[in-house]
This record gives sequence, structure tokens and C-alpha cells, in this order.
Amino acid sequence: MKKVITYGTYDLLHYGHIKLLERAKALGDYLIVGVTADDFDKTRGKINVRQTLEERIAAVRAVNIADQIIVEQYEGQKIDDIKRYDVDVFTVGSDWEGVFDYLREYCEVIYLPRTQGISSTDIRSSEATFKIGMTGYSSFLNKFYKESTFVNAVDVIGLYSKDTTKLSKIKDELEFITNDYDELLENVDSVYIHSHPSSHYSECKKALLNGKNVLCESPVAMSSEECNELLKIAKDNGLTFMEAIRTAYTTAYSRLLLLLKSGKIGKVVSVDATCTSLSSGGDGSREKLNRWGSLEAWGPTTLLPVFQILGTDYESISFFFLKSSNGDYDSFTKIDFKYSFATASIKVGNGVKSEGELIISGTKGYVYVPAPWWKMDYFEIRYENPTDNKRYFYQINGEGIRYELVEFANAIRRGKPDFYIDRQVTIEISKIMHEFYSKVK
Ligand code: CTP
Repeated sequence: MKKVITYGTYDLLHYGHIKLLERAKALGDYLIVGVTADDFDKTRGKINVRQTLEERIAAVRAVNIADQIIVEQYEGQKIDDIKRYDVDVFTVGSDWEGVFDYLREYCEVIYLPRTQGISSTDIRSSEATFKIGMTGYSSFLNKFYKESTFVNAVDVIGLYSKDTTKLSKIKDELEFITNDYDELLENVDSVYIHSHPSSHYSECKKALLNGKNVLCESPVAMSSEECNELLKIAKDNGLTFMEAIRTAYTTAYSRLLLLLKSGKIGKVVSVDATCTSLSSGGDGSREKLNRWGSLEAWGPTTLLPVFQILGTDYESISFFFLKSSNGDYDSFTKIDFKYSFATASIKVGNGVKSEGELIISGTKGYVYVPAPWWKMDYFEIRYENPTDNKRYFYQINGEGIRYELVEFANAIRRGKPDFYIDRQVTIEISKIMHEFYSKVK
């Protein structure tokens, strides 16, 4: 029996895929189809895939050409598969011409002519893209814009800003820049808000009331009342309102949460997170605009693992803070949480430097994520016996920004909230902001 193997993503299965599968099958007696796992696609930069692995497998199965379907999970797996399944012929479309010649050592390699005029990418791009307008003045917007170009479903076209001195890199790329927020809203269907946190609530509210979807840097509001109001407006109007904490959308961080839930370190008794910088991403123009406090700049990122791992039902909270030399903002803040079963502490600095690590302690072991943990691509689970330690590596591209944007577009399409950050966490972050800044100011 002559065995043939072929691989692909098979997103939004189309005529070109079916033709390829038919011709692959005709090369032998038995066809194995390898469908790429979501993570594997992510690591090779294919982030725009619309369907889940299950949906893509179901579609390949439904056309009834493959005799066997397997999942491709890691780089180099093709060699393993060819040996494991005793494959005689490896085939893919001619867009891969030459790339898999190294497999000739193991079996015959055939590149089949690709069907012209159709691809998953074309189908995805023919769908409407979301036109996004940005607000803010931070140089971070340059990075955000660049990352958005990797995401098919969105088009960042405009900027509302009162100070563009740090945004020279994107000035020519955008269709328009305005200092009138109404003008921005008139020309887009979604906004990304990265202004000073004190403006988030009013900018979010106005955008939502004008029927725009909102992706807002955290904190989305400076009190739980304001936050609840925004969530309600979004819900009542069927709009997507998503909190942007990019760490939440990285593969390593979301896998870490799952491993903790499965009891890898036993019962979690402590979460300690630190994020500091000597110049905040937010201080576009110090003379004219407010400087970001340490908690405004870093609080949401550090609070994320605390609330996602231990929940928001803590018994008590205590704050320690230092003010900047001119007394304008908090330059260093430490918050301690007491839960009935655990404790947590966060340290944030804007103008104070410390080791930016995340440590999660449990009854069987602990998790160590080295600095900068918020751009996590690696973590380690450590035990009493070091030979039991395990290291986990995951690809991260663009600090999580592009994954966040993909999820934003997906959430708008689904018409349901994103499922990375629970509403309760969003509300609690806003609540902490209020409690803290009513003490500081
Ligand atoms: N294929 C083909 N003809 C097309 C599209 C794809 O023969 N018009 C083949 C590819 O060469 C590959 C297989 O189908 O062997 C699976 O390809 P995949 O990457 O899943 O499909 P694309 O449509 O190329 O996806 P994308 O646009 O996301 O790259």
C-alpha cells in the first residue's frame, strides 16, 4: 500500500484545498492529512486563522478524502510522522516548492501545482475589516500601529491626539490625525484608547454612546461605578468593550493559568508580581500632560495574575506608596492583599527600579517567571527536588499586542465579550484605582 501525507492549516476550507487533497490522494492508496494545531500556527506567525483546530479538522473530515487525519504540533514533526506512519510520498502545493526537499532523505517529495486565484488569506481579507482610530500621545502607539499591520481583520486609520511629538513614525501611515475626538469617531467603527487613564472613562463612554467598539488600555475607568456604567452601555448596545492588558493574550501566560488550575504546584498560597520602569510609556509630554502614576502605569498588569489566580474576593488590602519628588504622582507603590487562604503582593514603580519577576507559591512547588514577566515567553515550575523542575517555552510575537487585536476582532464578530479577562477582574482593577488614588491625592 502506497501511503501519502500532506499538511496544511485548512482554514475556511476552499476549492483549492479540496483539489489539493484529491490530487494528493491520487498519488497513492492511503492519504494522511496533517492539520496544524493553533499553537503551531502561532509560532510560525500565522495568527489570523479564523477557525479552531476542531472546526478545521471537521471540515477536512467532511469532504471525505483523507483516510486519516493527524494534528501537526511541532517543528520537525514531519520527519517523525513519515517514519512513524511509514509514508512513501510527501506532498504539498507548489507555493512550498523547495522548502521540503530535506524530506527526500525519508520519502518521495512531490510539489503539486497550486490552484490559482483562491486562498484562505484572500477569503479572510475579503471580509470587512474593522476601521480603528487610536487616541493618545505615547510612543507606544507607534508600536501598536506596527503590530496592527500583522492582523488582517483590522485597519488602523486615524489618530486623535493633542500632542503628536512622539508619533512621527506613524504620521505618514495614517489616513488622518485630528485634535477633535468627534471627528475621529465619525470616521471609524472601533477605537483603541491609550490616552492618560484619567481620560479613559469619558473617551470610552463617548465612543460607546456613538456605537463604536472599544479596546481600552487598563484601567478602563478610575472607579468601579464608572467601569460598571461602561460595561452596561456596551452590553445594552451590543458593542465589544475590551480591556487591553496584552500579557493576558500571550500563549505562555494563558498556559500558565491552565497549569495552575490543574494543580501543578498544589494549592496556590501566594502571588507576587513586580513591574517597574524608570520612564513610563505614558509620559508623552510632561509639561503639558499629567505624568502617569506607578499604579496607573503598571497596576493592571500586576493585578491581572493576582485576580485571575486568587480571585477578587480578598478580605483586606493595604497600600504603601512613595510620591515623586514634585509630589505629582506615586512613583512607587506596594499593595498587599489578604485572602482567607492566601496572600498576594504587587510592587509597581515609575521612577523606581526593581526586578520585574512573577513568583507564584504553592503547597507542592512554585512558578518562577523571570523579568520582564509581562512579556512572558518562558516560565519554570520548580519543586523541592530540582530534578522535577520543568521549563515551558512559548513563542511570543509583538508583546501580545497582535494577539490582543485578533481577539478584539473576533469578539466583535462573535458579538460576545472576549474570554481572556473576566468582567469581575476589569471591575476590580477600576475599584483598586479609586481606593488608591482617593488616598494619594
Ligand atoms: N493549496 C492549493 N491551492 C490553493 C490554496 C492552497 O493547492 N489555492 C494547498 C497548499 O499548497 C497546501 C494546502 O493546500 O498544500 C493547505 O494550504 P493552506 O496553507 O492551509 O491554505 P492557504 O489557502 O494557502 O492558506 P493561507 O492563505 O492562510 O496561507
